[in-house]
Amino acid sequence: MTDSAFAFGLGVGTHNSKGEWLEVFFASPMLNPPAALVTAVSGYDSGSALDPLQLQMLQSELATAGEKSQAELAQQCLDSGRPVVVVLLTEDAPPANVPEGYLKLQLLSHRLVKPHGTNLQGLFGVLPNVAWTSEGAIDIAELPRRQLESRLRGETLEVSCVDKFPKMTNYVVPSGVRIAHSARVRLGAYLGEGTTIMHEGFVNFNAGTEGPGMIEGRISAGVMVGSGSDLGGGCSTIGTLSGGGNIIISVGKECLIGANAGIGIPLGDRCTVEAGLFVTAGTKVTMLDAQGMPVETAKARDLAGKADLLFRRNSTTGAVECLTNRSAVELNAELHSHN
Ligand SMILES: CC(C)(COP(=O)(O)OP(=O)(O)OC[C@H]1O[C@@H](n2cnc3c(N)ncnc32)[C@H](O)[C@@H]1OP(=O)(O)O)[C@@H](O)C(=O)NCCC(=O)NCCS
Repeated sequence: MTDSAFAFGLGVGTHNSKGEWLEVFFASPMLNPPAALVTAVSGYDSGSALDPLQLQMLQSELATAGEKSQAELAQQCLDSGRPVVVVLLTEDAPPANVPEGYLKLQLLSHRLVKPHGTNLQGLFGVLPNVAWTSEGAIDIAELPRRQLESRLRGETLEVSCVDKFPKMTNYVVPSGVRIAHSARVRLGAYLGEGTTIMHEGFVNFNAGTEGPGMIEGRISAGVMVGSGSDLGGGCSTIGTLSGGGNIIISVGKECLIGANAGIGIPLGDRCTVEAGLFVTAGTKVTMLDAQGMPVETAKARDLAGKADLLFRRNSTTGAVECLTNRSAVELNAELHSHN
C-alpha cells in the first residue's frame, strides 16, 4: 500500500431519505496529504458514510498521526450526528461518487488546484440534481413533500436554485474577493486574490481568475483569466462544455474584453476586444499595420494566444480588424485596493 495520495477530505453532508449523498461540505480539504495521514485513513471505505464507531476510531487515528486539526474536525463531526464521509483520492482519477466530486470542486474553490488541474471527467453524471433551499439540499423527488411540510408549519421553503452545482460561497469564501451576487459563482470556481465579481459577472466550475481582476461578464467552464484583466459588462467567453470545439479558451494578463463583447479564441497578454465585438475562431480578421493600413487577412484562431492585439469592428466597413494594442489596460488601482 502506498502512503502518498492526491487529495484528502473529511466531509459532512446531506443524504436523501434513501441514504444517498446529495452534497458534501469539506471544511479543510488537503492536496497531497502527508504520509501519516494517508496511512491513518486508508483503511476506511472512501466515499461511504461512517458510522459513529468508525468515526471515533478515525478521530483517534488522526490524533495519533499528529493531525491535530483533522482530529478536531472528526470530533466536531461526531458531535454533530450529521452524515460524515472520509474521501481519500489515491490518484487524480475521474470522480467516482458524489463525495469525490464535491471534494474535487472544493479543491478548486479552496485554490488548492487550478482549473484543469484535476480530472473532472464524468462529473455531470456523478452529481445529482438538487433543490438548494432554506433548509439545505433536498432531493428533487422529495421536494413536494418537504414544501407541503413547510407550508403546514406555516412557513415557506425557499428554493433558491435547482442545479447540480451549488453556489461556491456556501462552501468557501476565498480570501480577498468581492462577489456582488453570490449565486453567480458556482462551486468549483477558482477566484484568485483581488478578484471582484460584479452582479453581471458569472463564474462556472473549473474556471476562474488568477486575480486581481474585475469581472462583469461570463467566465465559462474551463476558462481561466489572467491577472489584471477586466471583463466588461455582459461579455462572454466561450466554454468547453457545449459547442465550443476543443480549443481551451483563456484570457492573458491585463486584457480588456469590452462590454457585450465575446471571445472564442484564447487571448494573449494585454489584448483588447472592442465593446460589442464577438471574435469567434473562424472570424476573418484584417490585420492593420502601425499606420492603420490593411496588410493581410487572418483567421482569428491563427492569432490565438498572441499578445498586444486590439480587435475592433470597423464602424464604417463592418470588417473585423486587428491592431497592435498600444493602450494596455490599467485596472483602476483604487477599485482593487478595497478587496
Ligand atoms: C476598442 C476600444 C478599446 C478603442 O478605444 P481607444 O483605443 O481608446 O480608441 P479611440 O476611441 O481613442 O479611437 C482611436 C481611433 O480609432 C478610431 N476607432 C475606434 N474604434 C473604431 C472602430 N470600431 N472603427 C473605426 N475606427 C475606430 C477612432 O475614431 C479614432 O480615430 P482617430 O485617430 O482618427 O481619431 C474602445 O472603443 C472599447 O471598445 N473599449 C471597451 C470599453 C469597455 O467596454 N469597458 C468595459 C465597461 S463595463
